[in-house]
Amino acid sequence: MTSKQATVKPWAGRFSESTDSFVESFTESVSFDQRLAMHDIAGSLAHVQMLAHVKVLTDTECEQISAGLQSIRSNIESGEFSWHTALEDVHMNIESVLVETIGEVGKKLHTGRSRNDQVATDLRLYLREAVDDISIQLIAVMTELVNIADREAETIMPGFTHMQSAQPVTFGHHMLAWYEMLQRDQLRLTECRARINIMPLGSAALAGTSFPIDREFTAQLLGFDALSSNSLDAVSDRDFVIEFVAVGSLIMMHLSRFSEEMVLWMSSQFGFIDLGDAWCTGSSIMPQKKNPDLPELVRGKTGRVYGSLMALLTLMKGQPLAYNRDNQEDKENLFDVIDTVQACLQAYAGMLPTLVVKKEAMLEAAERGYGTATDMADYLVHKGIPFRDAHAIVGKTVQFAIETQSKLSALSLADLLQFSEHFDEDIYPILELKGSVAARDHKGGTAPNQVKKAVRQARDYLASLN
Ligand code: ARG
Repeated sequence: MTSKQATVKPWAGRFSESTDSFVESFTESVSFDQRLAMHDIAGSLAHVQMLAHVKVLTDTECEQISAGLQSIRSNIESGEFSWHTALEDVHMNIESVLVETIGEVGKKLHTGRSRNDQVATDLRLYLREAVDDISIQLIAVMTELVNIADREAETIMPGFTHMQSAQPVTFGHHMLAWYEMLQRDQLRLTECRARINIMPLGSAALAGTSFPIDREFTAQLLGFDALSSNSLDAVSDRDFVIEFVAVGSLIMMHLSRFSEEMVLWMSSQFGFIDLGDAWCTGSSIMPQKKNPDLPELVRGKTGRVYGSLMALLTLMKGQPLAYNRDNQEDKENLFDVIDTVQACLQAYAGMLPTLVVKKEAMLEAAERGYGTATDMADYLVHKGIPFRDAHAIVGKTVQFAIETQSKLSALSLADLLQFSEHFDEDIYPILELKGSVAARDHKGGTAPNQVKKAVRQARDYLASLN
């Protein structure tokens, strides 16, 4: 094929001047929408089968076009296919080569179809696959969190509010908090997939087509669950992209928060965890450094995903019905979000199995923080003292412990009796961290017992997804 033949625009008929070269490069999308090629061909194959089914094409025409599309598919897969920006987008590139390869009959492919319903279909097929891949990756990270929680159900760490030591919790419980967040994200993905998996094909440019198409037939071939109900809506809205990117933003927000903890915990100030050498990097100047770059980058990459969400919402907000070329701008943001979320989940799936929990450091930090003060107040409540009064008594006791540089459990009974006559020997087991976490033994509580139960439930849930 000569490159001249290859670049005749399918819409050239109405034009008497050739396109300005700036316009060509400003309007092209093939440099990025070639990512849709496999789904574009899948959509076209289903479309011609349907056209033959309703007798708009003969069976022979359908076979010729299908064979042509299949050979183009292998050429793209093997990297032999040459893309031309002069042919604007993935759709026109493939169609042009089809006509060159199989001749005149190739020109019948676009019967009863427009690039407007074609691109909306391609995007939905592409995104459906991406959502399935991301769900699998998310489930892998969730599984790893459950594995850690299972191992660390009894490991004690300080729990924080306001980033101050608050009450002891189990590390397993802490890990399961992240699991819960990701589980909601996974459900959100499933829910948004249902709205993605609706077929716009048949809407044509905006009003539908005069050919006797059988949309159910095409939808079944392509695995769509339903047909769009309004052609104007179907070719123009990209809410399904925005919804996915919003779900992606929530995934990133959760990973970013988790990353912040990873970074803090790995510092020598905390010293709660270590990550495998293969999953960290060093400093070019400070030989002692081992940096948690992966969580830092995940935290940093969250910004570009939020940026894409804003870009896409803004892209849509001023568009009158129906299709406008603005929509071409949806792809780079969407692709970047897919790539970023996938890379970050891959980072977590690889990094978490190398996590080393430094139990002694966590325990020591938990002991430093007067974390059982609430348990001490609860003890007084059990002896009949109103909670507010108990709170004040324990506040004074903690102040005394700080002044005498003592742990609460190291104060003598004589010391304690200065603050309340209700203290007795039986306070001491309550002041132990172990007793404190074990006492929070109800659904949603931090007791090792509950962590084990929650781990079992999470494993059942994960198994139910297969
Ligand atoms: N490249 C276009 C896009 O991404 C395909 C649809 C173009 N339709 C048109 N009538 N120019 O949205």
